[in-house]
Amino acid sequence: MAGRLVDALKRLEYRGYDSAGVATIHDGVMDRRRAEGKLFNLEKRLDAEPLPGMVGIAHTRWATHGIPNETNAHPHFVEGVAVVHNGIIENFSELRDELTEEGSVFETQTDTEVVAHLMAKYLREGLEPRAAMLKMLNRVTGAYALAVMLKADPGTIMAARSGPPLAVGYGRGEMFLGSDAIALSPFTNEITYLVDGDCAVINRDGVSVLDFTGKPVKRARQISQATAYVVDKGNHRHFMEKEIYEQPEVISHALSHYVDFAENTISTNAAAIDFKAASGLAISACGTAYLAGLVGKYWFERYARLPVEIDVASEFRYREMPLSPSQAALFISQSGETADTLASLRYCRENGLKIGAVVNVRESTIARESDAIFPIMAGPEIGVASTKAFTCQLAVLASLAIGAGKARGTVSADEERALVRHLAEMPRIMSRVLNLIQPQMESLSRELSKCKDVLYLGRGTSFPLAMEGALKLKEISYIHAEGYAAGELKHGPIALIDENMPVIVIAPFDRFFEKTVSNMQEVAARGGRIIFITDEAGAAASKLPTMATIILPVVDEIIAPMIFSLPIQLLAYHTAVFMGTDVDQPRNLAKSVTVE
Ligand code: AGP
Repeated sequence: MAGRLVDALKRLEYRGYDSAGVATIHDGVMDRRRAEGKLFNLEKRLDAEPLPGMVGIAHTRWATHGIPNETNAHPHFVEGVAVVHNGIIENFSELRDELTEEGSVFETQTDTEVVAHLMAKYLREGLEPRAAMLKMLNRVTGAYALAVMLKADPGTIMAARSGPPLAVGYGRGEMFLGSDAIALSPFTNEITYLVDGDCAVINRDGVSVLDFTGKPVKRARQISQATAYVVDKGNHRHFMEKEIYEQPEVISHALSHYVDFAENTISTNAAAIDFKAASGLAISACGTAYLAGLVGKYWFERYARLPVEIDVASEFRYREMPLSPSQAALFISQSGETADTLASLRYCRENGLKIGAVVNVRESTIARESDAIFPIMAGPEIGVASTKAFTCQLAVLASLAIGAGKARGTVSADEERALVRHLAEMPRIMSRVLNLIQPQMESLSRELSKCKDVLYLGRGTSFPLAMEGALKLKEISYIHAEGYAAGELKHGPIALIDENMPVIVIAPFDRFFEKTVSNMQEVAARGGRIIFITDEAGAAASKLPTMATIILPVVDEIIAPMIFSLPIQLLAYHTAVFMGTDVDQPRNLAKSVTVE
């Protein structure tokens, strides 16, 4: 069992990986093995000290409270109670004080440990396991997905969800519980997704689901589409490299879902989102997904003449922006589980907006709580730094913006056909560009890896791209980087310009090109070193001296953001490889941030 639990953890490791642990019960003995760092360390520990037993729980951690070390690793044990937890117990401090007052002795710095102590306390007071679980659930507040195992009741695992996802899996004479269907895919594809406020009591014969008052609730049993994808890198050194090179293929999958290539028309299932009647569009997301949304804002406003209100999800719902049911809302999320984005979605739902989800995981919480799902078809993205999901999000947003323009009469049939033909060219152009620029990216990254700070500049849709380039670089190479609107340079950042800080300028030969070149002159005049990412027309038009010029094919504005994403992804990737950082699992990060 321990080996199978660790195998399942491998499918969750990309979501958090600073420590891991497993616990089983065998012949009345509940025991655990835990290890700091990557899952590999836990496997080594289990090889040296195997754990018997056919009932167990396991966890791979992304630390919220308490440093990432073995002591703070889950499962947490207290008097025959074992707990694993994803999320944040917001009232843990007051509970810890109360329990300490009553004599509980805490071993860890984590919030999770209060759950184990509360269970132990209620069991000591003579409550039955289920009653103890419900009483605990009515004491703790915050976001949590919990699994609880009791030495005194070895055939049962209790679980509860309030925020982060949790799924029950049905086997043959065995049952499973996991943070998502992917983790369970090696064992079963028959799944029940728990919802917020569910408590599940699972034994080998099945599951009963209760609400937190103990009242039984019915939850659907469904066949999951999640595949037990092969967790391998092919002939690449990292998942991120593999996913960068998958983009031509997955972009064509994404487009085929929204484009009729025979007719060169857009065919979106936008029925649930009536862009024609919409008075405006609210977009909210986090990180790279937010930057994709920022590019989308330019497209919805330009092609569909639809005013777009966009903000990072952690700010979106606290701004109390005036929202109306006549607006539509789009939430962009690769994982579909990002807590801030989900909270913004629920805020828009409360305000009566129709909700669209641009997601990579169709069974995710964000997808399931939306009126319309717009899948990006990128396939599992394991590298924590988002690459193929980003360009697939862009491809979907471009399709939706053109479709919205068509519905609103602001994109003619001829314009639609022309734009769709450009979209259809993307996979071929991406393949060509990846092969064209690879050697130059690798050599240029040697230079970049020696820098302490990097500034990215862009105008129009290249401005969000400048921020995405900076985010890619900083999150995997740990070099400080900023993305700025090129026109903002002289309003402050120009003070930073010197020969030590390269300035990466993203500028296709478009209507902003001349203005961006004058920003480059301002940089050059102050001894700044420029890495110029442009196209053949731009390279011919600008004679400015540069540290390097990366020349891409001339492409239409509608696909430039996807094509110009490639050099900024490869620059970040190769720089991180030179820096020797953990490219696929950079420090402090997790692939899906399911806590606020
Ligand atoms: C992207 O490279 C980052 N890993 C991060 O910003 C990510 O885009 C963000 O956490 C949003 O995740 P989501 O798309 O799964 O919601």
